[in-house]
Amino acid sequence: MTAEFSMLIFGCFVILGLYVATSSNVTDTELRSISSEIWKSDNNSLTENDVKLNINGTKLFTYVNEKKLVGSYRLLDKLFDNYIAKTGVAEKNETGEYDEVEQFLNATLATKPMKIMHQFLSKKDLASADIQSFKKQLRQFWFTEYSRSGGVKDSSGFEHVFLGETKKGEVIGFHNWLFAYKQEKLGIFRYESLIRTCPNSVLAFKFKWIDGYTKPISSLFIRASPEVEMALFTLCFVTRANKNCPVELNGQKQTIATFDMGSNKTMNIATTYVVC
Ligand SMILES: *[C@@H]1O[C@H](CO)[C@@H](O)[C@H](O)[C@H]1NC(C)=O
Ligand SMILES: *[C@@H]1O[C@H](CO)[C@@H](O)[C@H](O)[C@H]1NC(C)=O
Ligand SMILES: *[C@@H]1O[C@H](CO)[C@@H](O)[C@H](O)[C@H]1NC(C)=O
Ligand SMILES: *[C@@H]1O[C@H](CO)[C@@H](O)[C@H](O)[C@H]1NC(C)=O
Ligand SMILES: *[C@@H]1O[C@H](CO)[C@@H](O)[C@H](O)[C@H]1NC(C)=O
Ligand SMILES: *[C@@H]1O[C@H](CO)[C@@H](O)[C@H](O)[C@H]1NC(C)=O
Repeated sequence: MTAEFSMLIFGCFVILGLYVATSSNVTDTELRSISSEIWKSDNNSLTENDVKLNINGTKLFTYVNEKKLVGSYRLLDKLFDNYIAKTGVAEKNETGEYDEVEQFLNATLATKPMKIMHQFLSKKDLASADIQSFKKQLRQFWFTEYSRSGGVKDSSGFEHVFLGETKKGEVIGFHNWLFAYKQEKLGIFRYESLIRTCPNSVLAFKFKWIDGYTKPISSLFIRASPEVEMALFTLCFVTRANKNCPVELNGQKQTIATFDMGSNKTMNIATTYVVC
């Protein structure tokens, strides 16, 4: 590669990166309206009868109707064993993982929440209208492996948000209820105390995970479907990275936080979660 050519490539990435990271061609009103539509279109989040909690106890999930954990839930669950939580240790990157991600993306992209999100972003020129290209963008945002330890590729937005990681004696990330439920069932996740409840079954709580490491507060949607979370988080990443993203879910105003990896990694999600 000539020096000019690499500069050109680098320049394009920077421009594209800044474009994604700082795009504000979408108003707060539009975000509230589209997020409301996304939330309303979701028919796969579980109900209060399907997921029962004991928010003041020591075991959070007292009952989950596992018959409902099919489709995108099963495909999400299949991704969980692809990752090593500890930062500083490279991910496994085994054969078959690419296809597992492909199946998960295919299934979620076929749902209303993801379609509405995709249509909105592509109308705004913030995403490719072509579904295969958009799938590549989703991989770039969520599944590109990068380092959180200044060395080996030990992390990704997906691992951080939909699973969790450990770093320097602490738990980081960990914002998905299905993962929390599965880890509690295995006896690895230990619910410690409720911090706050927020609208739409959002909880903020303190817990312990691998090696007894603690996270003093993590907030997450309980019962939300994988596709509605992917849709809202991606919407907010593309339109409001490193800023508050105002949403309106079921008539309730809430905020989603999203951060990119900064500098040269503006196309990768560092974290995203619902604020509570
Ligand atoms: C901003 O949005 C308008 C339509 O809402 C669109 O025509 C225009 O291309 C967009 N500009 C950018 C930079 O995305
Ligand atoms: C949700 O709606 C889609 C059609 O829009 C349908 O194919 C799917 O089975 C529905 N899922 C549930 C869990 O009802
Ligand atoms: C949990 O405890 C809080 C006070 O710490 C109380 O306000 C709330 O009603 C309790 N909730 C349940 C379901 O017991
Ligand atoms: C995903 O969908 C595409 C079509 O959009 C299809 O070609 C591909 O085989 C699917 N992959 C998997 C793993 O399901
Ligand atoms: C994972 O393996 C594939 C080949 O199977 C390779 O293309 C990709 O670069 C690897 N990713 C990482 C982060 O090492
Ligand atoms: C960004 O990438 C350029 C070129 O690869 C490199 O010189 C620079 O140090 C990087 N900046 C950061 C903060 O990593």
